Amino acid sequence: MNAESRTRLDQTPEWTALAEHREELAGTHLRELFDRHPGRGAAYTLRVGDLHIDYSKHLVTDRTLELLRGLAAATDVAGLRDAMFRGEKINVTEDRAVLHTALRAPRDAVVEVDGENVVPKVHAVLDKMAAFSERVRSGEWTGHTGRRIKNVVNIGIGGSDLGPAMAYEVLRSFTDRDLTVRFVSNVDGADLHEAVRDLDPAETLFVIASKTFTTIETITNATSARDWLLTELKAGQEAVARHFVALSTNAEKVADFGIDTANMFEFWDWVGGRYSFDSAIGLSLMIAIGPERFREMLDGFHLVDEHFRTAPAEANVPLLLGLLGVWYGNFHDAQSHAVLPYSHYLSKFTAYLQQLDMESNGKSVDRDGNPVRWQTGPVVWGTPGTNGQHAYYQLIHQGTKTIPADFIGFAEPVAELSDALKAQHDLLMANFFAQTQALAFGKTPDEVRAEGVPEELVPHKTFRGNHPTTTILARELTPSVLGQLIALYEHKVFVQGAIWNIDSFDQWGVELGKVLAKRVEPALTEGADVPGLDESTKALVGTYRELRGR
Ligand code: F6P
Repeated sequence: MNAESRTRLDQTPEWTALAEHREELAGTHLRELFDRHPGRGAAYTLRVGDLHIDYSKHLVTDRTLELLRGLAAATDVAGLRDAMFRGEKINVTEDRAVLHTALRAPRDAVVEVDGENVVPKVHAVLDKMAAFSERVRSGEWTGHTGRRIKNVVNIGIGGSDLGPAMAYEVLRSFTDRDLTVRFVSNVDGADLHEAVRDLDPAETLFVIASKTFTTIETITNATSARDWLLTELKAGQEAVARHFVALSTNAEKVADFGIDTANMFEFWDWVGGRYSFDSAIGLSLMIAIGPERFREMLDGFHLVDEHFRTAPAEANVPLLLGLLGVWYGNFHDAQSHAVLPYSHYLSKFTAYLQQLDMESNGKSVDRDGNPVRWQTGPVVWGTPGTNGQHAYYQLIHQGTKTIPADFIGFAEPVAELSDALKAQHDLLMANFFAQTQALAFGKTPDEVRAEGVPEELVPHKTFRGNHPTTTILARELTPSVLGQLIALYEHKVFVQGAIWNIDSFDQWGVELGKVLAKRVEPALTEGADVPGLDESTKALVGTYRELRGR
């Protein structure tokens, strides 16, 4: 597709064919699709690594999938994918390579950026992280007063927080339970207060995670943490070296902060913040679960990377998930996408995906800066499924909106649970299967009547059904499975960005708020007259100052 056609994607034959096909399918119910195609469930199931992906409960036929793959071919998703894996600078607005896949490449792989193979340095950092993690876990690394480290507090935000914080929850049963690991991200002082209030500073290690080491929230919290530690320990700057390590690309700023660069774990500008979790940014997680488990997780990522890179279009799971998202977002007016894990341990998974998806694909100009004429990234939301069932599922079942949803579940409960608690697992999973069935097939008015429901209540008790879902099922939740899941979503997001022709790897949209916050702060603290402050904000700032007695 040439540059001209790319700006008119919605007028290309591939797009138009999909729009027409959508019209043809308009009155078709999932019930009908299943009736017409015995064996649809098995036929519309793919497998990658440990993940079984059932996409039969989607409003698609073989023809739909063929047309969607046609769109992927016309927009050369495979070409951009290969360019990414080759280390080309596909992040055009920042002129950067996009190589999170190199972070989980095996030791003998070769991935070049500007002619340099980056794999050796990736593994050098992983080895350094492993050695350090082992020293902390074994008690060999001690604090300033010689006490063993028992608490690890990660300070970071966005991509420097969400990944390790999420994964720490997911893999809790693999963590060293003698270690307390906490995550501080919010510049609201309450976050740090709650994280350290019951900790002994002599036993606490702060991991300052920031790609740029300039993010105001992180630097503010890190400074407060340093003040807390030195005050509590009644120690001078020399104590910092035993209690602070940094994860960053910016050695100069790390040194300015007072952290010995020997205690810095490096990564590189070709790792995007929201894609950085398996770089040095994973250090807190590695300390918690140990290097071996961390490497298992990386292997899980790599397995899906290889699948995405090499699997044919018909069997390529990230491609399929990306295309299904395009189908609903661009041809069914779906505005959002729900991710509903049936695992308590995945409670932060959707929050992690929010940054991954929404910071990547929340764009409205194409890679050349032209406004896009089609919908881009969806609003991603969701919480663990059973809780959601008693909160917002009503709207998914009987509301007026199309909300495609991913259901993620596991056959085995986590090994550590008691037998009594393991026995609850079938009930959890019964809900998991029941929900996707109800969403797909609903309940017809006749079925409701057959239950003896009075006529006036029939409309209320009828379920339209036809709500699309993907079911992702694995045997158990392991570090490798977590890696597989994340890589699956990373590449799904990639596929969509490639089709929409947007730069999924920049995030200029978060800059304006940051700049304005810096400008507004003196108005709050000193009552300074900030030029360019609009009337509403000026009045609000005035009220704020009044309420604070200033
Ligand atoms: O929110 C914007 C952002 O730049 C994210 O992309 C990033 O993950 C986060 O801030 C934190 O940045 P840093 O790791 O540089 O502190």
